[in-house]
Amino acid sequence: MDSKQLTVQALQKVLPDDISEEQITNLIEKPKSSDLGDYAFPTFILAKSLHKAPNMIAEDLVGQIDQDGFEKVVNTGAYVNFFLDKGNFSNNILHTVLSEKENYGNADEGKGGNVPIDMSSPNIAKPMSMGHLRSTVIGNSIAKIITKLGYKPIKINHLGDWGTQFGKLIVGYKKWGSQAEVEADPINNLLKYYVRFHKEAETQPELDDEARAWFKKMEDGDQEALNLWTWFRKLSLAEFQKVYDRLDVTFDSYNGEAFYNDKMDDVIKTIQDKGLLEESRGAEIVDLSELDLSPALIRKTDGATLYITRDLAAAIYRKNTYHFVKSLYVVGSEQSEHFKKLKAVLKKMGYDWSDDIHHIDFGLITNGGKKLSTRKGRVILLENVLNDAVDLAKKQIEEKNPDLKNKDEVAEAVGVGAVVFHDLKNERRDNFDFNLEEVVRFEGETGPYVQYTNARALSILRKAKTDDYQNADDLSLDDSEAWDTIKLLQQFPEIVDRAGQKYEPSVVAKYALKLAKSFNQYYAHSKILTEDDGLNARLGLVKSVSIILQMSLGLLGVRAPEEM
Ligand code: ARG
Repeated sequence: MDSKQLTVQALQKVLPDDISEEQITNLIEKPKSSDLGDYAFPTFILAKSLHKAPNMIAEDLVGQIDQDGFEKVVNTGAYVNFFLDKGNFSNNILHTVLSEKENYGNADEGKGGNVPIDMSSPNIAKPMSMGHLRSTVIGNSIAKIITKLGYKPIKINHLGDWGTQFGKLIVGYKKWGSQAEVEADPINNLLKYYVRFHKEAETQPELDDEARAWFKKMEDGDQEALNLWTWFRKLSLAEFQKVYDRLDVTFDSYNGEAFYNDKMDDVIKTIQDKGLLEESRGAEIVDLSELDLSPALIRKTDGATLYITRDLAAAIYRKNTYHFVKSLYVVGSEQSEHFKKLKAVLKKMGYDWSDDIHHIDFGLITNGGKKLSTRKGRVILLENVLNDAVDLAKKQIEEKNPDLKNKDEVAEAVGVGAVVFHDLKNERRDNFDFNLEEVVRFEGETGPYVQYTNARALSILRKAKTDDYQNADDLSLDDSEAWDTIKLLQQFPEIVDRAGQKYEPSVVAKYALKLAKSFNQYYAHSKILTEDDGLNARLGLVKSVSIILQMSLGLLGVRAPEEM
């Protein structure tokens, strides 16, 4: 039985019958300071019905409560304070973690149900931006978290590989580019044409007409246009792949916008058959005014389909292909309106499963408080960020541990991990500024700090030169220095569950920081390797901490080097 349940039951036996188990559970608090115990029960709500002062009630309850399983139960004013039996509690939790290992915290809530996760989804011929980094790492982490909860994620890279921007790119390439130049440095040069296109189109609006014409050719299947498009796409994907490899992110599908080209007519026909398609100034729309949304533009005057039309096709395709229980879209908050419309149109089409679609929105990474934008060329190239982070990590490793063998490999894990961790420790909807020096520090609320703590735990275990603790019967620790850490170990399953319910990796990241901090405090105050009766329990604690830190980093998609 978990410790909270134990507390609830002890209370239930002595409280009036009209207070339900659920009420008791909700009333129980976790005191901020451990001087006030592990759980506290406020008695105020009983004062009226019992005609007694809350202090008196608390005192009476203490006299009646069965203290079994607790170190002590006392009252402080109107509160009943429960102090858990540390030895018993630690013995249970350490045995559980050591035996379940990486399965600790698993749940089967998902029952194997499919959950497509639309994530990363960069646009071809543009560099992958920090915004796409967010989508990639948040999506990847959610996939890992929900796997632990028993779902089957399907990671889909909905590439932006179709649309009028390719018309612009073709114009730019034909006017200012060459094959040799593109092949030498694909993304940067394609970006250069694209940026130049926008600059020159400000004064030469005819460029926009040319771009529209080239996109029309693509849609009509013109060979030259399609060859250029295929080439841009292939080169771009190869560049993106380098980043995915560094992040250890894989996908189950790369079906992007272009994949739905031959599925457009069907969708539009269905919308029409349901009587939802209206004409508005030559274009075709679905009216959503009853929901206070602007109309969904399905087909433009020139017959071209739009982003939302492709997303409608994609949503239906995913339902038919994966029979999903939920369908997630990890896309920036600036597209909230788009996803509201997407769901609204699907609902109007009669698809009740539109309720299972969730936009997992997130905030912006800013640079000096300003939004990053590809168009204006104010863009941070993700690869440069990763390289700089790895350089910084390497410098610190050289200082701290000059004899480390695989320095480059560790620096890569630490540098890349630092960037990923920093992204995930912020609540996903919050905007945050990116400052590399802060991110790669080995102290403070950083990924390297968590990695370093795990490496430290592993080094203690190596020094111990025994793994007797793995089979020891008695792992009870009544040491108050260890108590916070022990209780954090017990919280892990709850943390995974909460992170999954809220699609919020920051819950795991914040927890990992807390656990690392509490373990370091314990380590600073205790002689772990002393040969006495408590040795097995202390080593069991160190091992459990390392298991859970590694698991937490793993859920965030961050590597855990053994030494650093
Ligand atoms: N390519 C889009 C962008 O960079 C994101 C696509 C998100 N996924 C989707 N199904 N709409 O803005």
